[in-house]
Amino acid sequence: GRKAGVVVAIDGPSGSGKSSTSRGVAQRCGLEYLDTGAMYRAITHWMLEQDVDVSDPNAVAQHVHRPRIAMGRDPQMPTVSVDDRDVAAEIRSEWVTGQVSAVSAVPEVRQRLVADQRSLIDAAVESGNGIVVEGRDITTVVAPHADVKLYLTASTQARASRRSDERQTEDVAATQAALERRDRLDSTRSTSPLTQTEDAVELDTTGYTLAEVIDVVADLVAQVRQHV
Ligand code: DC
Repeated sequence: GRKAGVVVAIDGPSGSGKSSTSRGVAQRCGLEYLDTGAMYRAITHWMLEQDVDVSDPNAVAQHVHRPRIAMGRDPQMPTVSVDDRDVAAEIRSEWVTGQVSAVSAVPEVRQRLVADQRSLIDAAVESGNGIVVEGRDITTVVAPHADVKLYLTASTQARASRRSDERQTEDVAATQAALERRDRLDSTRSTSPLTQTEDAVELDTTGYTLAEVIDVVADLVAQVRQHV
């Protein structure tokens, strides 16, 4: 018979609750989970380790096809490895976080990773598993025909305080400043900036618990599944 998994695309700025929501929804609905931000972080980590000058877009473009990036898509235990090495912890370092906007602004990087992401999505659709994909350009570029398209937001203060909790730092003001800097870079770059499409459902998560947001999104998924 026909097997066709649903595709759930979730975009939004950091701290909007995107990752926790995406994982939670994937788990609840029995779908695969893909964190595209982790792919940009993985390629950035590899470039930094290879001493590629990441402030030089030509240098970045020249090496873009060298690292082999593998994404484990189980929402209970998502994994990321580069050339068979687990880099899940390293890609969250301040070193990578500070440079990832520059690397992800390089068109060749986006071309490569968008192609990788589309193959993973196609495989999840064909196998019938379905997938939740989170990032900045999923509803607009990677999967504009997704069955469910969401744009998650939250107030800047709410996002900074969630990030500070995650990192266990007291300095909410510094976290907020770093976050605003990255938002600005991510939404003003010329290739696939973070933008909101007309047909994505906007969910402002300020003042809602994670469980409440997951409930809302899981309901949307259940509705489209009746029609797929
Ligand atoms: O979601 P995150 O903070 O792990 O994302 C890391 C960086 O990767 C972020 O600064 C923007 C970039 N990114 C992107 O350009 N496109 C995506 N689809 C996902 C992330």
